[in-house]
Parts: sequence; C-alpha cells; structure tokens
Amino acid sequence: MPRIDLRSDTVTHPTPAMRRAMADAELGDDVFGDDPTVNALEERAAALLGKEAGLFVASGTMGNLVAQMPTWTGARRRSPAPRATW
Ligand SMILES: Cc1ncc(COP(=O)(O)O)c(C=O)c1O
Repeated sequence: MPRIDLRSDTVTHPTPAMRRAMADAELGDDVFGDDPTVNALEERAAALLGKEAGLFVASGTMGNLVAQMPTWTGARRRSPAPRATW
C-alpha cells in the first residue's frame, strides 16, 4: 500500500520517522494544558490558519461533537424553547 493515500486520513501509513516522533514526543496531561506536544500542535495549527487558538481532539467523532456543541448551547441560550437546527 502506498505511504500517502488520500482516500482517508485513516489509510495513510506513518513513516518510520513519524513513528519515532510519536514515540519520542514529550507527554503531559492535556486536560491541565500540560502536554507540550499538544500545546505546540495547537499553536502551530492556529498560526497556520490565522486563528486565535487551536484545539486538538483525539478522534474524528470528538471533532464533530465539538463543532456542533456551540450550535446546541447557543440555541438554548437564545430561547427557552430552542428551535431545531438539524
Ligand atoms: C468527519 C469524520 N467524522 C468521524 C470520523 C471517525 O473518526 P474516529 O474513528 O476517530 O472517531 C472521521 C474519520 O476520519 C471523519 O473524517
């Protein structure tokens, strides 16, 4: 299988250098903002995209939920009887 397969992020295989980088990464508790690797990744992503901050999530499903949550909570705050947005 080729190293880069753009059908999905889940079918691309990491190179040996990528595996080494993962194994050697500095670790910490991201809940407390103490993971230097996650902090660096979030800062780099924010800078690349011209955003104030970045947020790393550990799965695609988590990303989908985080993206939807402001819609749900915003709808609740605007009206005591929230209208469905989906
Ligand atoms: C938009 C989207 N949602 C969900 C998933 C599922 O990801 P996971 O198995 O990491 O939750 C993917 C996987 O690539 C995705 O692209």
